[in-house]
Amino acid sequence: MGLALRTMEVTDLGFAGSLSVLVGWNQTARDWERLLAVEPEGCFIAEWDGKRAGTATTTCYGTDLAWIGMILVHPDFRRHGIGRSLMGHCLDFLKGRAIRCVKLDATPLGKTLYDQLGFRDEWTLARWEAEKLQILATAHSGPIRPIREADCPRIFDLDARAFGVSRRKLIGQLARQGQGLVMESGGRLEGYGMMRSGMRADYLGPVVASSPEAGIALSRALLSGACGKPIFWDIPDQAKEAVALAQTLGFIQQRQLIRMHRGENLDPGEPHLQFAIADPATG
Ligand SMILES: CC(C)(COP(=O)(O)OP(=O)(O)OC[C@H]1O[C@@H](n2cnc3c(N)ncnc32)[C@H](O)[C@@H]1OP(=O)(O)O)[C@@H](O)C(=O)NCCC(=O)NCCS
Repeated sequence: MGLALRTMEVTDLGFAGSLSVLVGWNQTARDWERLLAVEPEGCFIAEWDGKRAGTATTTCYGTDLAWIGMILVHPDFRRHGIGRSLMGHCLDFLKGRAIRCVKLDATPLGKTLYDQLGFRDEWTLARWEAEKLQILATAHSGPIRPIREADCPRIFDLDARAFGVSRRKLIGQLARQGQGLVMESGGRLEGYGMMRSGMRADYLGPVVASSPEAGIALSRALLSGACGKPIFWDIPDQAKEAVALAQTLGFIQQRQLIRMHRGENLDPGEPHLQFAIADPATG
């Protein structure tokens, strides 16, 4: 029978979740559900001889940009061409949607394959990890407060400036699910940020701010809500103030990732405004 690729169904979420746990990734069942809800026709399962063996997800941001994520092959089925076929399937799907640019955040293992498929390096980011956070009795106050539904249009605008294109569907879903804060001063939205639970650690991100001061204040406020679990924080290397804050708070760099793109990268955004990305699977 060999390899077959098909659309992911809700009934595959258990398999998908167990695979990401097996390889030690941080995504929860809720993260998988969100990926499937945002792009129900663009998430895929690979089967090898009728057994589920791998996963892939896509997330479209209009037709300007799409993300490929969760490229995972079960260790028992690696080096059979499954990863390459899943990537080809995603790229065909996105071509059918006339997407101009495709991006992903590559692990060193994935990068070998993505180089072969024509992806080019854009910038680097790193996962930072804190086992136990030292600081932070400061609850949020003053210009920092929980996100309200009415904040969403301004959040989407600021996010689009930092990310390059609008990702309102994804950010809207995250805002409804996570513990989110905004910073507002003089009627102006200075930034927003979220924290959510992960399989291995709580996850700080996305955090987007129009100034380093706002990014620092929001990150500190979000981290002050941490409840003792380890914390992961994925930071673009260009967001130097975020990196400095992570180091000050005792975060340790755990691994490097490479943001890669394929196709015309006309909307690179402003990575230094991204104090924390949303998820390597979605950007
Ligand atoms: C990366 C991963 C998806 C590759 O899946 P796979 O089905 O084994 O990949 P393929 O068999 O299609 O290999 C495609 C090419 O990638 C490269 N490659 C894959 N695994 C490799 C390895 N362990 N060492 C070196 N090159 C490797 C090779 O060039 C390979 O082509 P070849 O076999 O013709 O030489 C899989 O190893 C995996 O799930 N890793 C853990 C999760 C991860 O890092 N995913 C990437 C997220 S960005």
